[in-house]
Amino acid sequence: MIRLAAPFAVFLIVAPTAAASSEIGQIVYERWCGWCHGEKGDGNGPAARYLMPKPRDFTLGLFKYKSTAGESPPSDEDLGRIVAEGMPGTSMPGWKDLLTDTERRDVIAFIKTFSDIFEFEKPGQAISLDGQSAVSPKTIELGREVYRKAKCAECHGDTGKGNISKKLKDDWGDAIWPRNLTKPWTFRGGSSVKDVYTRLTIGIPGTPMPVFGEPGKKEALSEEDRWAAAHYVVSLADHTRRPSPGATKIRAVYHPGELIAEPFAEAWAEAPSVSFRLAPQFIAADRLFTSVVDQITARAVYNDKEIALLIEWDDPTPSMPGDRVQTNLAPGEMFEDAVAVQFPAEQSEKLEKPYFGHGDAANPVVMWHWSAGPADGRAAYSIFEMRGMGTRVKRDPGRSDFSARGQYVDGTWRVVFRQTRNPGDNHVAFESGRLLPVAFAAWDGSNGERGSRHTLTRWVWLWLAPPPSLKVVYVPVIVMTLLAGGLLTVSARVRRAGGRSREERDGK
Ligand code: HEC
Ligand code: HEC
Repeated sequence: MIRLAAPFAVFLIVAPTAAASSEIGQIVYERWCGWCHGEKGDGNGPAARYLMPKPRDFTLGLFKYKSTAGESPPSDEDLGRIVAEGMPGTSMPGWKDLLTDTERRDVIAFIKTFSDIFEFEKPGQAISLDGQSAVSPKTIELGREVYRKAKCAECHGDTGKGNISKKLKDDWGDAIWPRNLTKPWTFRGGSSVKDVYTRLTIGIPGTPMPVFGEPGKKEALSEEDRWAAAHYVVSLADHTRRPSPGATKIRAVYHPGELIAEPFAEAWAEAPSVSFRLAPQFIAADRLFTSVVDQITARAVYNDKEIALLIEWDDPTPSMPGDRVQTNLAPGEMFEDAVAVQFPAEQSEKLEKPYFGHGDAANPVVMWHWSAGPADGRAAYSIFEMRGMGTRVKRDPGRSDFSARGQYVDGTWRVVFRQTRNPGDNHVAFESGRLLPVAFAAWDGSNGERGSRHTLTRWVWLWLAPPPSLKVVYVPVIVMTLLAGGLLTVSARVRRAGGRSREERDGK
């Protein structure tokens, strides 16, 4: 006890007690923060026009992720947490590895000088988290009911994934998309049940996300209901779709018999899925900087003849030009949602990948493309060959029995691409046991994405896992048959013996 206490006492004496220095904070700010937040703290740094959401304008004294209710400014702890951890799903980095505790305190002291709110008002008390209910199927069920009653679905969709019915803007007049509640790794203010409860209670200032904890307001929910809704939100998390930076391989599994044709068929659950981050294409003009669709999930199955690749991604709105509801939800001109899969056109044993921007003259790529089509028309699919940006030549999909089928359900697009495995004729061939480079691209029509304005993954691999060998499948079957055969013979003998004895008993 004494041995433990002694170094602790020393720590207390030498612990830094100096007040944070906004002068030193200014140096830190100008070096690290001004690029985005602007020299004057107005959110207009040189990088700002390429970012969505926009960097915070500190001159307004308005902060989104705080623990103090109402108009009250955030506490130093609130700001400290954001500066240390960053804001997942946005360009705001976490600084805990780059800046020391003291530097972070100093820079916070400096950003507080941009607005006089910190001079005139003290941060209020953090809201109480003492009433937290235990999580149980009952609280989650109550939370589901609160979600319905509080009209969360208008903005977040029935399943929390999108298919939204409200067009939203933030207080700065910029388009804003509600969070996908199944992806807690994109929650800016933290994804624990306490974090979610805090957001529901005090809202997200500057955004249309309502305040549910202010008594007397028409949106007000009881404390019990807010905890239940927070448990429900946490229960919506789908960690199976969390992109892992280390994931590089889609494992296609052998599926004897007919391949799965329907995008939402339950049988797809048997194929292992892997998710990849999508980044805006900003290398070649016409560039995209600010994207909404942030990841894609792939699965693949094959049989002796064919391969089927399922691509899945969440999109808050299914964009098909001519659809009046979707046109109204889009912040600008709306194009059709689309997705593409890119393979090297020529397959080498050397596992070489063409230039990811559609290859080049010597190393062409093949692109499978599907687009949602106009509302009163049909989805379209095609195969292109490309030798660099803007060089696409259409190929005849019929020659490789190529097809694609897409469907949008509750915030998720799924598209199944199918093709013969060995089409010859310079189409991509899919040999079992071989690694094939593959990359994906997506277009979010309601975000004005078209042509080279799209999101994309890096090159990853598609691997057709060889079918389980005869030994693996058949040996157990043969053993079972032999055993069963043996049992049959034995039981036949017993029956015969038994029969005889019965006959004998019968006196015959
Ligand atoms: C690459 C751009 C970028 C850099 C660099 C950057 N930020 Fe940010 N920051 C953002 C964006 C974008 C947001 C707003 C995200 C949102 O609204 O969801 C933000 C928001 C914030 C917020 C507001 C949190 C809230 O609750 O509203 C604080 C505080 C902040 N940044 C501090 C800093 C500090 C301090 C630095 C430097 C050490 C820094 N930022 C550097 C992009 C950046
Ligand atoms: C009027 C539209 C609207 C309604 C209704 C609404 N939200 Fe939101 N919500 C938003 C928007 C917009 C954001 C994203 C704000 C941002 O990015 O700055 C958001 C963000 C969130 C977040 C993410 C917090 C974070 O840290 O990133 C959660 C969780 C959430 N909402 C839950 C709910 C629940 C639960 C309800 C119903 C009780 C609800 N919302 C009702 C618009 C709404």
